[in-house]
Amino acid sequence: MKSRSKSRLLVALALLVLAATIAGIAALRRHRSWVSYPDAELASIKNAHDYKGGPACPVCHLERDARLKADPVVLCQRCHKFIHKNHPVNVTVKLGTGKDLPLWAKDHVVCHTCHDPHDLKSFGDGLRMKFDQLCLRCHDKH
Ligand code: HEC
Ligand code: HEC
Ligand code: HEC
Ligand code: HEC
Repeated sequence: MKSRSKSRLLVALALLVLAATIAGIAALRRHRSWVSYPDAELASIKNAHDYKGGPACPVCHLERDARLKADPVVLCQRCHKFIHKNHPVNVTVKLGTGKDLPLWAKDHVVCHTCHDPHDLKSFGDGLRMKFDQLCLRCHDKH
């Protein structure tokens, strides 16, 4: 009996390791791997999303760290005017939006709620999903 539960434990552990590996690979595929640049080069990067074939991580992130260098809205506004003034940011969403529309602290809508800074190409205008799906996720039909 004892050895049987031991081998079950081993199988469970092996599955866990496998799952962790797959999750790790998926995360890397989403973001590519971390890249670094010397300070002088970093300061000259104009397109944070597409530099030498991928996003230039340290423009927005601490070195090899998922934390951001600044408040997310301030961060984007270093390079972008908030052109479409029609949509407010730092407003609170009352009901959850699901994982694919990430909110910031206090359930605030921020730029990266609607835009994926790592992937501007999939849905046009850098959106996280198609335009007509996006709005309805938080607003009822009119
Ligand atoms: C234009 C700015 C920008 C660039 C460039 C950028 N990121 Fe991000 N990244 C963000 C924002 C905004 C978030 C969302 C913040 C959060 O969820 O905490 C984020 C979240 C993340 C996260 C954690 C959340 C998740 O989706 O898993 C990881 C990991 C990450 N980025 C990795 C990278 C890597 C690796 C690179 C470079 C290849 C990179 N980022 C380049 C802005 C950027
Ligand atoms: C270091 C400057 C820089 C930072 C910081 C930055 N961007 Fe950009 N972004 C650019 C440049 C350059 C372009 C390309 C402009 C163009 O092609 O006309 C761009 C393009 C875009 C586009 C347009 C995509 C399209 O298809 O038209 C979106 C959306 C966008 N960025 C969102 C963000 C968000 C959200 C953040 C913050 C998380 C952010 N950006 C931070 C420089 C930056
Ligand atoms: C509620 C969703 C939403 C939020 C929040 C949001 N955007 Fe957008 N953004 C859009 C949509 C939809 C478009 C495309 C249609 C348009 O231009 O209005 C767009 C377009 C853009 C473009 C490309 C437009 C162009 O004409 O080149 C940029 C750059 C951009 N957004 C940056 C930002 C920044 C920076 C923030 C935060 C200050 C932000 N967005 C917040 C939904 C959003
Ligand atoms: C992540 C959730 C979310 C998404 C996605 C979203 N909105 Fe909103 N929107 C809000 C919140 C929160 C407010 C502010 C509180 C309110 O009025 O409900 C708001 C406010 C608004 C307003 C009123 C603006 C004002 O100044 O009073 C309009 C118009 C609007 N959204 C249109 C849109 C459109 C169009 C889209 C799709 C491009 C969209 N929203 C996508 C959450 C969202």
